[in-house]
Amino acid sequence: MSTGYIIVQQSGPLEGSVNISGAKNAVLVIMASLILTRGRSILRNVPAIADVYEMIEILKSLGAKIQFDSQSNVVEVDTTQLNPGILNQDAVKKFRASLLIFGPLLTQFKDVKVAMPGGDAIGVRPLDYHIKNFKKLGADVWQDENFLYGKAYNLQAQRLVLDYPSVGATENLLMALTLVEGESWIVNAALEPEVLDLIVVLQKMGADIEICPPAMIKIKGVQNLKPVDHTVICDRLEAGSLLIAGAITKGDVFIPNANALEMELFLMKLGEMGHEIKIGANGQGVRLKACSSPKVVSFKTGPYPGFPTDLQALMMAAQVVAQGTCNVVETVFENRFLHVAEMNKMGAKISANGHCAQLEGTPHLIGVDVIATDIRAACALALLGFAAHGVTRVQKGVHHWKRGYETLDVKLQQLGANIILD
Ligand code: UD1
Repeated sequence: MSTGYIIVQQSGPLEGSVNISGAKNAVLVIMASLILTRGRSILRNVPAIADVYEMIEILKSLGAKIQFDSQSNVVEVDTTQLNPGILNQDAVKKFRASLLIFGPLLTQFKDVKVAMPGGDAIGVRPLDYHIKNFKKLGADVWQDENFLYGKAYNLQAQRLVLDYPSVGATENLLMALTLVEGESWIVNAALEPEVLDLIVVLQKMGADIEICPPAMIKIKGVQNLKPVDHTVICDRLEAGSLLIAGAITKGDVFIPNANALEMELFLMKLGEMGHEIKIGANGQGVRLKACSSPKVVSFKTGPYPGFPTDLQALMMAAQVVAQGTCNVVETVFENRFLHVAEMNKMGAKISANGHCAQLEGTPHLIGVDVIATDIRAACALALLGFAAHGVTRVQKGVHHWKRGYETLDVKLQQLGANIILD
């Protein structure tokens, strides 16, 4: 019987070449955006991960006909007949990115009720930016403990200013505005590579969208949008995870299909640690040759192109096995240091206080039982296990791992890692 543990033993150096899968944070919102169209769309480079299967359930419950070939990573979605009244709220509740159906449903069907996924280990994750700005567009939007409701019979084009460049709020509002007559703006928009991939998809559908400096999106509403054929971008967070695995094990890892231009600050910090980073022509392909005695670096997370919060726990694992002391500042989520106590169980020397952590590198790590609180913490703890004496078992790890990574365990095994999902 499966225990749900990721089981890891000391490994390395990890060596070899491995390709990454399609980006989770791009594919989920792109699938949600298909609600804006009628007809048959094809998405390629779709990772076979649990969150994608959940999004398929949601779209099916709305009436979409879907075929997913997980071998070729192609999904066909036929949205000819959609009916929001039959939405499967239990499927919506299961994961947070399902909230991204709200904007497309509101602009298309005017009267929407979407289940709330509840709080999250890494922070409260309120919806105030979404709600406030849909209200500015003229919608009636409110929430209770269980649902987010929206009624919008006459959305009006507006200039919207976000308090913070929230990825989800930018995406939800952007998708809705593609069908709102007139010219709208999102000021202080998130411009993560995954948001840019969504914009490419919406433009292929026929949306009139322009990105303007500094961090603004201009949208001119159109009457309707058509289906698309699109290849989803590759997952920079999976690329980052594999490079960290190389760094922790003093290995040599090459990722031919990683886009270095989407992870420049992260790569610069790895270089500052002493690791050799080689980048292919036009940023395509990244190789990390690990330094045998890396130095720690301080870093601070922030919205793109800042240091990604989703690579904070992983980068911290790389610091744990380096020399010296450094500071890590998390500015995106208020509670994203839950992995610190778990890393300390393994012998790491980290003290966290609010948004800041101080870390002292150590070569003495031991494999113990640790608990994963989210996808990236699960991965960070597993990768740190490669540098620990004995067996590291990451409890609740498999659940998180399968939500966010497509066969990363197999890819790591191919590089020489001792890791299994139990
Ligand atoms: C997305 C990503 C997630 C990533 C995060 C930040 C997906 C599916 N998930 O999450 O992996 O870690 O971006 O890069 O793409 N906030 C509010 N009110 C709101 C909305 C957000 O206060 O209405 C706060 C959040 O609590 C958080 C910060 O803004 O502190 C950033 O959140 P946001 O960018 O919205 O993250 P997500 O879209 O949920």
